[in-house]
Amino acid sequence: MSASIDIDGLTKVFGSGPEAVHAFGPSSLHIGKGEFVSLLGPSGCGKSTLMLIIAGLLEPTSGEVRVDEKTVTGPLTDIGIMFQDNTLVPWRTVWGNVALQLELRGENPSRHRQRIESLLASVKLDGFADRHPYELSGGMQQRAAFCQAMVHDPDTLLFDEPLGKLDAMTRESIRTDLQTLWLSKRPTVVFVTHSIEEAVQLSSKVCLITPRPGRIDRVIDIDLPYPRDLDVKSGADFVGHVREIQAIFHGYGVL
Ligand SMILES: Nc1ncnc2c1ncn2[C@@H]1O[C@H](COP(=O)(O)OP(=O)(O)O)[C@@H](O)[C@H]1O
Ligand SMILES: [Mg+2]
Repeated sequence: MSASIDIDGLTKVFGSGPEAVHAFGPSSLHIGKGEFVSLLGPSGCGKSTLMLIIAGLLEPTSGEVRVDEKTVTGPLTDIGIMFQDNTLVPWRTVWGNVALQLELRGENPSRHRQRIESLLASVKLDGFADRHPYELSGGMQQRAAFCQAMVHDPDTLLFDEPLGKLDAMTRESIRTDLQTLWLSKRPTVVFVTHSIEEAVQLSSKVCLITPRPGRIDRVIDIDLPYPRDLDVKSGADFVGHVREIQAIFHGYGVL
């Protein structure tokens, strides 16, 4: 199950008059069902603003977002969201935090014990279900937050720099797990990152956003085979995409 997302002539301006901040747009983009799309752009170009508008948590100034052809007018429920700072509550265990997502939806988590356990195992957290967030490393906390975002099998996942605060090795290993999960369930993913390599490794499409006011300037199809492992990453096609994107950002004056 996955959703299509259409961003249509979208603009966001915060405030008005001389104080107004033109944060994003105008831009349009079609994201097909089951795609993995990265938004890549410099700090302040409106990536988080765009994610909040897609999620229905922020109103656009003009234009609209449609999910499965329906205009978004309020918070979406069939999505999983994950940010740089996770939303785990400190007083619940890992299991309890993942279960919370189901409880909030009026479901009985004990009916879904198997799903929670297999999700935790898929990100190597089996054996940590009874631990509290403070007992986990940063990487393990983000893995738990992935499970929290995915346990209700949402059609759409919105990830805003979820790996931003992690060290390079942990990032690399979580990327692999994330790719495996995406390949097995095929939700539609919108993924914000600063890392060109990360975007090329994970995405079917990479959208390049200009410096503020951010506009989606280029959409690059990455048609490399999945799963993209170390062999793919050292191949000429992969390196070519990374160089191409670096050159475009250099042209924006960002690199
Ligand atoms: N609630 C807000 N009120 C006013 N300005 C905002 C608000 N949220 C974001 N901005 C401004 O909009 C621009 C884009 O911000 P953001 O979407 O957070 O960028 P990114 O996620 O790409 O770093 C920035 O200049 C930021 O200061
Ligand atoms: Mg941001």
